[in-house]
Amino acid sequence: MQIIVCENYEELSRKGAELIAAEVKSNPAAVLGLATGNTPIGIYRYLVESYNKGELDFSNVKTYNLDEYLPIDPTDENSYCAFMHYHLWDKVNLKAENCHIPAGNVGMEKAAAECAAYDKQIEAAGGIDLQLLGIGRNGHIGFNEPGDHLLAGTHAVELTESTMAANGPLFENPADMPRHALTMGMGAIFAAKKVLLVANGKNKHDAVMGLLADEITTALPASLLKLHQNLILLCDKEAYNG
Ligand code: GLP
Repeated sequence: MQIIVCENYEELSRKGAELIAAEVKSNPAAVLGLATGNTPIGIYRYLVESYNKGELDFSNVKTYNLDEYLPIDPTDENSYCAFMHYHLWDKVNLKAENCHIPAGNVGMEKAAAECAAYDKQIEAAGGIDLQLLGIGRNGHIGFNEPGDHLLAGTHAVELTESTMAANGPLFENPADMPRHALTMGMGAIFAAKKVLLVANGKNKHDAVMGLLADEITTALPASLLKLHQNLILLCDKEAYNG
């Protein structure tokens, strides 16, 4: 594991964007796994800035997002789909047909088919070259929540109380937050050639410590990432030192 500790959020964001930009420059048809949440917002801002300076071309890049609430309409402002449109997809020259995210409006009964189709699409694209990951306070990645076991494929999950509490305030009415989500499983994440995990702030310190500790446990899904051959942990001092 390569560990990069930054002074602050700005430095982390700039560094994260540089790593993704380097991937896209070395492989203009790169397949990127993307994440939502507060942490990657700065990275997307710097990527858009580089694109506006003419330094980056996303015309042949494909993106696959980690997760989406269930049920939610893609046009709902709280959907991860809307988040991606706002922070990246609509601000660079990514082709609409190359931007992918699990469909949160399929309904529970069709969720399994949607998940299987999503995994097939990722496979058909040749797998993910670089997977950007945030980390939940409880160590979740995507929405692979702590539990007795984890799943390999994209699947529907019931969100934990910790995640409901962390993400609920982002909804105008926290009670409107869906209790379920679709998430890429550990399989596609582990199959990514490179994983870039970003964490900032004191409230991520315990989760980062869990990743750095020797133990590997499904009670802290991010701890499994220690087994990945090409993992970069990019964090700020607060997440690293507490
Ligand atoms: C959500 C997402 C995760 C994300 C995590 C941390 O639950 N499903 O993919 O990593 O939150 O979010 P934040 O960066 O806002 O702390």
